[in-house]
Amino acid sequence: MFRNLKAVGRVLYGRNSFDQLDEVMGELRVNEDSFVLFLVDEYFEGKELMKRIPMHSQDILKIIEVKEEPKTKIVDEIVAEVKSLGKGNPVSVVGIGGGSAMDYAKATRLMFTNEGSSAQYQGLDFIKNKGVHCTVIPTISGCGAEVSMTTVLTGPVKKLGIKGNYTPADQLLLDPELIKTVPEPQRFYTAMDCYIHNIEALNGHRKTVMGDSLGHESLRLCREIFLSEDSRTSENDEKLMIASYLGGLSLTYSEVGACHAISYGLASVTGVHHGEGNCIVFNQLEEFYPDGVKEFRAMMKNNNIDLPVGFNANRTPDEIEKMIDVSLTLIFMWAHVCGPDWQKIITRDKLRGLLMKM
Ligand SMILES: [Fe+2]
Repeated sequence: MFRNLKAVGRVLYGRNSFDQLDEVMGELRVNEDSFVLFLVDEYFEGKELMKRIPMHSQDILKIIEVKEEPKTKIVDEIVAEVKSLGKGNPVSVVGIGGGSAMDYAKATRLMFTNEGSSAQYQGLDFIKNKGVHCTVIPTISGCGAEVSMTTVLTGPVKKLGIKGNYTPADQLLLDPELIKTVPEPQRFYTAMDCYIHNIEALNGHRKTVMGDSLGHESLRLCREIFLSEDSRTSENDEKLMIASYLGGLSLTYSEVGACHAISYGLASVTGVHHGEGNCIVFNQLEEFYPDGVKEFRAMMKNNNIDLPVGFNANRTPDEIEKMIDVSLTLIFMWAHVCGPDWQKIITRDKLRGLLMKM
């Protein structure tokens, strides 16, 4: 059986297209009480972009903390707070920021129309009611959250995405101007999330022609950007935004692999940011992706990036074992990498050896 996949609804793309946001929201404001809920990455507090958000007097804007991964508790709090105002549901929940801000928007919008806590819906296809309209506006590129069917959430019991046909955003706004000021090395690490998505999607048992075609084009853009003399030109910003979009789509038709499976384990203990964690892990995966790792190192060198050294040097044996436990739960990823008999290849000893090298 093939899954009848749902992609993001409408895509507004172009330099300074952010200035059209009021027009896009205008189509949704059916009466004068209609309000929009803006969830904005804390990075923009006090910055110029805040003044450009087309707020109407009845709209609500919340600053979103992104130092830690999105939490079900915060999703629930935002929804409860907005509901308590008695204004009804927003006509759109707009996430402006990185993967966390976008994931918060994608999750929050679902909880206006589904009862209980968002923690009840972690997993595949648990959401039964369509959410309110959702708009995502990336301001850093690479993670692919702008197109993905998943919103990654940490709950009281587990870290697991809400995934299903109701999860993708309804509206995507891609404005390359918005990623111009992202500081390094976050920009590089997040962009490498995209590069790694492509390498993983293209190398495994679950790959498809659809996923490959999107992944190859995304990979070509990544190479053009990060092997060029200056990766931070406005043309390269635009290419990066599109590489992230295509890379995210490519995953919909394939799967991530060894780097993500180990990186989730690493993050579960250390809380390392997804992009940085992936880079630390990928750098040790020559045996899985020899050409990709070689090229990744060339990109790091070309962009003067130094990865943290001895990241796991002081971990306790218990912490390493916990990382292995989490990594081994990601059976779809490992089956993509090694096939149905992956358990014969991916042993605890192998994972321990890799983690200790990081
Ligand atoms: Fe990723």
